[in-house]
Amino acid sequence: METKIYKLDYHAIDPEIIKEAAAVIRNGELVAFPTETVYGLGANALCSDAAKKIYAAKGRPSDNPLIVHIAKWQDLLYIAKDVPKEAEKLAKAFWPGPLTMIVNKNDRVPRETTGGMDTVAVRMPSHPAALALIRESGCLIAAPSANASGRPSPTMAEHVAEDLGGRIPVILDGGEVGIGIESTIIDLTEEIPMILRPGYITEEMLKSVIGEVRIDPGIIAADSAVKPKAPGMKYRHYAPRADLKIVDGSKDAVIETINALTEEQQKQEKKVGVIGTDETAACYRGDLILSVGSREDEDEIARQMYRILRAFDESGVDVIYSESFATPRIGQAIMNRLLKAAGHQVLMAQQNNGGRKIV
Ligand code: TXA
Ligand code: MG
Repeated sequence: METKIYKLDYHAIDPEIIKEAAAVIRNGELVAFPTETVYGLGANALCSDAAKKIYAAKGRPSDNPLIVHIAKWQDLLYIAKDVPKEAEKLAKAFWPGPLTMIVNKNDRVPRETTGGMDTVAVRMPSHPAALALIRESGCLIAAPSANASGRPSPTMAEHVAEDLGGRIPVILDGGEVGIGIESTIIDLTEEIPMILRPGYITEEMLKSVIGEVRIDPGIIAADSAVKPKAPGMKYRHYAPRADLKIVDGSKDAVIETINALTEEQQKQEKKVGVIGTDETAACYRGDLILSVGSREDEDEIARQMYRILRAFDESGVDVIYSESFATPRIGQAIMNRLLKAAGHQVLMAQQNNGGRKIV
């Protein structure tokens, strides 16, 4: 299949391009499009055959439900069985934006879209191209991240083309996304609303609107017996091809430890990648050293993370050592993705003994 790629200007979305893409959605086919978080792979959410095509194109397990993207509040009422009072408050505070809410679904939503679940995940994105596509199609659009299953989420149209080129008819290229990590997911079907995936909208922001909020215990403890409630969070997503380890500790100890590890690996003829920051990148001696941005700018770190993980895949490094990024606001979301990419391998750096212990 030929994949058409259309460039869009964020500030002046071309209505002709949106019309063409909307017709593709209405025909039950797939369109990749930018959102403010990551690129999505869209299909008509209320048509089971269209939803099935998403799973096929991505190679996604069929039990992993999709997020339904909407353009107006009434769309949520159209597909929800009952709407908890928190939903309206959260929508007023954070929609359109990077928050996904889980509510009970009604019969309008096919089980293919929800991976067999009785609940449905709903989000109103803020990217003007996403909103225009939903409105023009007249459909609700189911859209997971537009990567091949198991690869880092796409933050640029080029990433989508890399993974899905030739497998989908249309990619809307809106340039680099603004946030770079997927939306926060909050489950409103729980007695106490529960965060199933941390994101740009933090626990504190949610609490300030609806009061008590819990975090799914399954996403905190890596190898605990507790399974995450969002089916997609149990998979080892975002995994780069090389073996990725996170090195945690004070700045100097981390640099010393990563350099010691690098030397050990290079003696064994291994190529070493390092994920550092603008403040530290010059201190490393690996074969490929990439900075995720300044430690002072956590938004930049979130925006760059997936692009950097992809860049290592192309470089052919054997191992990657990464600094830890438990930054004040969205550090939880950044580390959630990085820990998954690393299969939760974390080394504690110790200074002045060249050694380190595995936690
Ligand atoms: O920012 C985002 O949310 C992006 C953009 C494209 O909007 N989308 C995205 O979709 O990240 P995806 O499919 O890559 O991740 C959706 C996550 C998965 O972990 C899935 O298991 C979970 O949401 N999920 C969806 N519906 C659910 C439900 N009814 N109950 C529990 N988890 C659900
Ligand atoms: Mg995804």
